[in-house]
Amino acid sequence: GEQNRINIAIDGPAGAGKSTVARMVASRLQYIYVDTGAMYRAVTWYMQSHGISAENEQKVLQTVQNMVIELKPHESGQMVLLNGEDVTPFIRSQKVNSEVSRYAQIEDLRHHLVHLQRMMALSKGVVMDGRDIGTTVLPAAEVKIFMTASVKERALRRFKELDKAEGITLEQLETDIARRDRLDEEREVSPLRRAEDAVFLDTTDMNIDEVVEYITSFCRTRMDGE
Ligand code: DC
Repeated sequence: GEQNRINIAIDGPAGAGKSTVARMVASRLQYIYVDTGAMYRAVTWYMQSHGISAENEQKVLQTVQNMVIELKPHESGQMVLLNGEDVTPFIRSQKVNSEVSRYAQIEDLRHHLVHLQRMMALSKGVVMDGRDIGTTVLPAAEVKIFMTASVKERALRRFKELDKAEGITLEQLETDIARRDRLDEEREVSPLRRAEDAVFLDTTDMNIDEVVEYITSFCRTRMDGE
């Protein structure tokens, strides 16, 4: 029958496959996908390119307040535009990786981005992924998923995606993922944690299609108002 549009929050640690799954769920439901990590990454890239360090919180805030941040759907995920310029090619670099969690700790910056994220979800029909979506950004989301997998499995998934030429070992990836988990969980502002009403989904022994199918079916039951 006629289904109601809902909002779907997907949170979890680095490398759990959230963005792939969130994008596929959005496409199945013909919903809009919002990758909030891409917003933190784009802001980090911009500050780095303009020599604005994470310590200069006031300057970071002032800069971000004067910036137009847009997300546009794209076949391979999502495009991030800053003041109309596509910065997507730059936001997954090692340089951004190494500092994004420092910028993501700035409380005023988070407030600003959270506000933008809420605006994007106002008319519903959004699949949003991040760390604090179910707890802070969209506490009233009709579906909340907390997606994780063992550190070993997440490292293995990353390893398979990596260009062998980068020369990173599986052990290095495991150490790196464990370190990022700690930073995300121990941060004072909006730390990574499961919302009480989120479905806990351990995907260690699931493939992507199984995860997408599980979440999509669960969402459909919620749309029917069950
Ligand atoms: O999901 P990702 O790896 O693209 O996220 C990049 C960084 O941004 C990561 O350090 C966690 C942070 N982040 C956050 O603090 N809050 C969000 N809602 C999304 C990402």
